[in-house]
Amino acid sequence: MTDVEIKKGLAGVTVDYTAISKVNPETNSLLYRGYPVQELAATQPFEAVAYLLWHGELPSAHALSELETFERTHRDLDDDVKTVIDLLPLDAHPMDVVRTAVSVLGAAAPGVADNSEAADLAKAKLLFAKIPAMVAYDQRRRRGQELIPPRGDLDYSRNFLWMTFGEEPADVVAGAFNVSMILYAEHSFNASTFTARVITSTTADLYSAVVGAIGALKGALHGGANEAVMHIFDEIGEAANVTAWLDDALAAKRKIMGFGHRVYKKGDSRVPTMKAALDTLIDHYDARDLAALYDTLESEFVSRKGIYPNLDYPSGPAYHLIGYDTPTFTPLFVASRVVGWTAHIIEQTASNALIRPLSAYDGVDERHIDGYVASDAERRAAERAEEAQ
Ligand code: COA
Repeated sequence: MTDVEIKKGLAGVTVDYTAISKVNPETNSLLYRGYPVQELAATQPFEAVAYLLWHGELPSAHALSELETFERTHRDLDDDVKTVIDLLPLDAHPMDVVRTAVSVLGAAAPGVADNSEAADLAKAKLLFAKIPAMVAYDQRRRRGQELIPPRGDLDYSRNFLWMTFGEEPADVVAGAFNVSMILYAEHSFNASTFTARVITSTTADLYSAVVGAIGALKGALHGGANEAVMHIFDEIGEAANVTAWLDDALAAKRKIMGFGHRVYKKGDSRVPTMKAALDTLIDHYDARDLAALYDTLESEFVSRKGIYPNLDYPSGPAYHLIGYDTPTFTPLFVASRVVGWTAHIIEQTASNALIRPLSAYDGVDERHIDGYVASDAERRAAERAEEAQ
């Protein structure tokens, strides 16, 4: 074994600068381009936050209207994307469906290889507009329902819900959904964003980076946790079962999904805002049992382990109450986080260095194939390497 310090999981390693967001675990705060995320969630539509993350400033009324017009006129599910989605089995995981759909869009889009800032911004806005139709249609086809075309008179969140459920959402539902989109949009060098930056650093195109990021987000230690929270709720059943369930889960050394964070150790800064949005949904749907289960699991787990909920803990139940199937929760995260990913892709390209870390070898010592004779060129190369040492 070589004598080097390994930073397993890159924990504590600062890889680069970013001007997009600041996660501060000490003050339990998250800033998007300088603005506290809870202030944005309370005052802005998701469209304005997307603009902020891409451009660095909140939009003027004119710039917001331009972005809205673009988004509203590019919401349709493309025919080739629909054809490919229809070829996928109904039990394909929705994350696999959205990953495939984005890949199809990227393979068919013009100017894929143009990595200029203007071209990447255009691709980012296209993905922002197109992903909701992919996610909404996939949930519908699994329920044996037809595609619902988008409505140009509705904003991003209302239209997303319209395309999924075929009815206009109540204000409280659209509001909670808008908050969740804003809170999920960006979180510095998390695993999927870092994946997107690694792919971008090779000069591969934006679509390739987003497809890779979707793969990284799928895992339960990252975005898949919002889905996993709901599975836990289903397993527990009701608040009265929490203590016994937790005894067994902790004895089996299970990770309790929706709790803990690599960076935040004293609580996730986004949770109070999302919990307030969840509370409005609990009132709206009169979901007292779910609220009791939520509160009991949180207070028991926090008091036993001192590990706090992360954003996935309130957002999973919120999406459940709105009517999304549990496996669709992480694709909803994709629809939001694509904004952060693409902002990082543009930032990485603007100041690129190939991301290629080192590894320490701990395999078997050098050995040789019996009878193998090195060529003259190989021998000379080996001699040169030895002389250079
Ligand atoms: N349930 C039970 N124990 C947990 C836990 C959880 N959700 N999160 C952390 N722990 C415990 C670990 O078992 C470990 O205990 P140990 O020191 O006795 O072995 C300790 O806390 C440190 O955990 P570790 O996994 O090393 O921390 P990390 O910074 O690498 O992990 C997560 C962060 C997010 C991967 C981890 O908290 C987790 O798996 N959470 C559940 C999945 C989740 O909600 N992911 C979404 C993140 S936004």
